[in-house]
Amino acid sequence: MRVLVVGGGGREHALSWAVKRDAPDATIFAAPGNPGTAQLGTNLDIPATATDDLVRAARDHRIDFTVVGPEAPLAAGLADALRAAGHPVFGPGAAAARIESSKAFAKELMRRAKIPTAASRTFTALDPALAYITRHAEPLVVKASGLAAGKGVVVCARRAEAARVARAMLEATAFGDAGREIIIEDFLKGEELSVLALTDGDRLLLLPAAQDHKRLGEGDTGPNTGGMGAYCPVTIATRGLLERVRREVLEPAIRALAAHGAPFQGVLYAGLMLGADGTLSVLEFNCRLGDPETQALLPVLPGVTRHLADIAAGTWRPAETTLTPTRAAVAAVLAAPGYPDKPQLGAPVVVPRDLEAGTLVFHAGTRRDPDGTLRVHGGRVLTVTGLGDTVAEAAKRSGDACELITFPGKTYRRDIGWREIREARAGAARG
Ligand code: AMP
Ligand code: GLY
Repeated sequence: MRVLVVGGGGREHALSWAVKRDAPDATIFAAPGNPGTAQLGTNLDIPATATDDLVRAARDHRIDFTVVGPEAPLAAGLADALRAAGHPVFGPGAAAARIESSKAFAKELMRRAKIPTAASRTFTALDPALAYITRHAEPLVVKASGLAAGKGVVVCARRAEAARVARAMLEATAFGDAGREIIIEDFLKGEELSVLALTDGDRLLLLPAAQDHKRLGEGDTGPNTGGMGAYCPVTIATRGLLERVRREVLEPAIRALAAHGAPFQGVLYAGLMLGADGTLSVLEFNCRLGDPETQALLPVLPGVTRHLADIAAGTWRPAETTLTPTRAAVAAVLAAPGYPDKPQLGAPVVVPRDLEAGTLVFHAGTRRDPDGTLRVHGGRVLTVTGLGDTVAEAAKRSGDACELITFPGKTYRRDIGWREIREARAGAARG
């Protein structure tokens, strides 16, 4: 099997690693990849958004199937172009990827399909947006409709702040085209949960729920990031809750996209808020695997590659409706100093060779000098996944390795999975 992985982050290193685990004879190409994927196969010097070059590479390297990691190439139609050229690909076409690339489209789809989500309005002009903000209760949430690399959502405690953000998005160019259209939405309280499902546009296979930690600081404080760590499984995501997510969120979304003439094939990611009263609301949809959720999920889902390949080939007949994790996993991100605003790049990174068994180091923002020196090359540098029988054990393994990996200004959270670990302790204390 010859596999092309498109992207160059921690998610794509984890995807390449999972393919190698499940199909040791596979030949892996990554575009553009990173020093981690280079250890597993061949990196192609092609950006993830260079559609024509990627289609050519799929032909020249006789690729059997392609997995697209990031949203930008999907939104730009890479999966359509590959399929049109006869190459099997795991990932939705541009029309279905709009569920992520246009929050306005996603909101309208949810309204039509009666999928629970925060009440909202969509605006392209400033004056009506400001008028709406004036009438809205505090706090409120302002979102750029387009792709903004995880930076397009601002939770505003006060109306004045919401007005400033709306102005910056609609009038200034701070958010580029992504901010030409904005959503103003009610603030929701609760616990966040990521539920992802593999789908061929008809059948759904649920992955175990994961929980991302979006804030930079421990205890969920500080600015929002692309994600500082994730873990699975999540105890609050009971079998019953997952079935509710399937019935109330994922199935209706897949059916609505198909009815819209945009069948979705790939992985649909629902970012959910679970209220204390049991209410379930969609915060966002993504049209791809999450980063860093993937680095926690794939290591505990042996055999998952078969599903991706069969979905790409159009031959998928899954025997089950949910995948069960074999172990617990905690994935912590090691970030560069200054992340997320102004990460400082270039410092040397040292990863000890003799990390404990059950520890996986996935590269994201790294590069390797000709002399072999590894350097910081992006805001999120590495993801360190620990495996264990419990989330607490996995967290300890991940944390120990994070401590042993060194680079100047290394920034990470030592509390990934803290809710889970606290609940497990409380449960043990109750007997
Ligand atoms: P999104 O990209 O839409 O998932 O938003 C990024 C983050 O902003 C989410 O993970 C939440 O932490 C927060 N967020 C988004 N929408 C809301 C909302 N309506 N209420 C509260 N927090 C939200
Ligand atoms: N970790 C959140 C995301 O991938 O969107």
